[in-house]
This record gives sequence, structure tokens and C-alpha cells, in this order.
Amino acid sequence: MKELILGIESSCDDSSVALIDINTYEKIYYKKISQELEHSKYGGVVPELAARLHTQALPNLIIDIKPHFKNIKAIAVTNEPGLSVSLIGGVSLAKAISISLNIPLIGINHLFGHIYSLFLDKDIVFPLGVLLVSGGHTMIIDIDCDGKISVLATTSDDSFGESFDKVAKMLNLGYPGGEKIENLAKDGDDKRFHFTIPLLHNRRLEYSFSGLKNQVRLEIEKMQFITEQDRSDICACFQKTAINHILDKLSKIFVQKKWAKFGIVGGASANLSLRNGVFEICKKHDSSLLLAPLEFCSDNALMIARAGISKFKKREFIDYKNLQINPKIDFLNFNR
Ligand code: KG4
Ligand code: ZN
Repeated sequence: MKELILGIESSCDDSSVALIDINTYEKIYYKKISQELEHSKYGGVVPELAARLHTQALPNLIIDIKPHFKNIKAIAVTNEPGLSVSLIGGVSLAKAISISLNIPLIGINHLFGHIYSLFLDKDIVFPLGVLLVSGGHTMIIDIDCDGKISVLATTSDDSFGESFDKVAKMLNLGYPGGEKIENLAKDGDDKRFHFTIPLLHNRRLEYSFSGLKNQVRLEIEKMQFITEQDRSDICACFQKTAINHILDKLSKIFVQKKWAKFGIVGGASANLSLRNGVFEICKKHDSSLLLAPLEFCSDNALMIARAGISKFKKREFIDYKNLQINPKIDFLNFNR
């Protein structure tokens, strides 16, 4: 009889549920209901709307997997970090199923989940370097031989993905902006505007995207009328500079760390120019680049279920009374 982990993800604007076989990592069920269209007209995620949409979507996904209830051995749910009103939806549902079916609960840190998107159907390998680029985070992470996590660089203001979302909003492209900007940039002249790479001559290993966003805003304000070509050129120049900022700090860290394996995770890791840039750095340092399947770069319950398997094997369960949501926790006090 199959033994399954149920994964539930609702930390932001995606409601997602997955079932994976604990022993083989086989994907038994996976579905995600994205709220992008609903939030797009506001240019960003509206928390109250996100909460309401999770409450509609999640029970429908659970109905789908009812035939598998008897095989579920544990429920892994994202409980940190994220929007509190969104996290509550998934965590409350997980608690309710746990109580009614008498199945143990596992709390999953969303960022830890993203790392597992590199190992959806295989065992995780340490040591490992990771670039995490999402809507909420931009981090370079070191995971040592024992699985101990250290954050080597993070952003002091906007995240990489968020800067794409904000530039997209300035250009009225809707939300989320990452993919739209990447697509427009393909037709743009990336030499037309000279945006400066943030912190280029600063030795601090730190990211900052708000200054770049302001450079873009000033350029847009100078234009009385924005043509399709202007848009594409802005996207191309912005994207090139944002990626060069990521690569500049990453190459400095690579000199010190010498990772044999390096992965990129998070929604923005779907960006092909970013992937190519990181690939070149990895090649120079004889490091092999690990990538998540494009479909599982952005938020999804499969990575949460997969992270749940590793905690399941260590019997890291949590009583429903103790499972809290922690909207602001990033990485990570844990060693696993
Ligand atoms: O990981 P994710 O789905 O949600 C968070 O945990 O934040 O990441 C979503 C973010 C959004 O900011 C979105 O614009 C960005 O990832 N993103 C991209 C691309 N695709 C998604 N950014 C740049 N290029 C892309 N192709
Ligand atoms: Zn995410």
C-alpha cells in the first residue's frame, strides 16, 4: 500500500495541494490554483482578496484527493514566511484534516520548500550553494555537509522578483511582472538606457534593488509617450542590470566558497537570462548547476510535500496546538 505525504501551500497568492509517495517520490497528485489574474488589476497581491480566494480554492483541491485519504501518513503545510492571512488558510485546513483523520502535522518553511524544488524526485545532496530569487526574497545560501544553512547575502530592500513586479507596474504590464518583462526584453535594445549596477564598487555582499527601480522610474517619467519599443528597451536594460547585480555579488562569493553543486530556486529562477548568467559562473568554477523544472520554480505544494518527506523521515511532527504561522521568519534557525 502506498504511503503518501500531503503538501499544502498558501503562503501568498497560489493555492496548491500535492501528494507524493514517501518511498519513491512519485508524484500522485498535483494542482495549483493561481490568483494572478485576480490580483493583476491591482498591480500586486491584495491580502484580503488572497485570503478569500484561498478559502474558496483549497477545499476544492482537498475534495479531489479524497480517494487517497487512507494512504496519507502526514500533512506538510507551509507555516512561514508569507502573508499571514494567506498562511492561515493552508494551516487551518491542514489542522482540520490532521484532527479529523488523526494524521500527524509537519510545518514547512517556504524557503526550505523552494530548496527542495531542486530535488522533487531524488535525494537531497549537501554541501550545496543556492541562489533564492522570489517575490519576497533574494538570498545566497550555503548548506554545509550536515545540512546546516547559512545566509551569505540578502537584500536590504526590494527583492529581485519584486523589482520586476514594480517595474511592470510602472509600465502597466499587470502582476506578476517577471515573465512579462522577460518576454518584452527579448525585443528590446539592452544598450539604450544606462542604468547603473547597484553596489558595484561596494565590497558589501548585499543586494539592493530599490535604487535601480528608481532609475527606471526617472527614465519613464522623462517620456511623454511610451511606445512598444520604448517598453521593450526599458525591460531589456532593467533586466540586464538587475541580473548583472545578482551575478556581480554571486561571482565574488563563488571565489570564496568553491561549491561543487549550485542551485537556483524561487519564482524568478525561471528567468532564462539569469539561468544563463549563473551557468557561466558555475562553468568557470567547475560547479554543476541544479535547476528546478520551470513549472515548479514558482510557489507550489509539490516542493512543500517533498520537504515534508525529509522531516517525516526524522519524525519531526508538530502538535496542532503548537503549529503557529510565522509571517516574518526567513532563514532559518534550523539545522537539517
Ligand atoms: O517564488 P514565487 O512564486 O513567490 C514567492 O515566494 O515570492 O516568486 C514569484 C516572483 C514574482 O515576483 C515574479 O515576478 C517573479 O517571481 N518571476 C520572475 C520570472 N518569473 C517569475 N522574475 C523574473 N523573471 C521571470 N521569468
Ligand atoms: Zn515562493
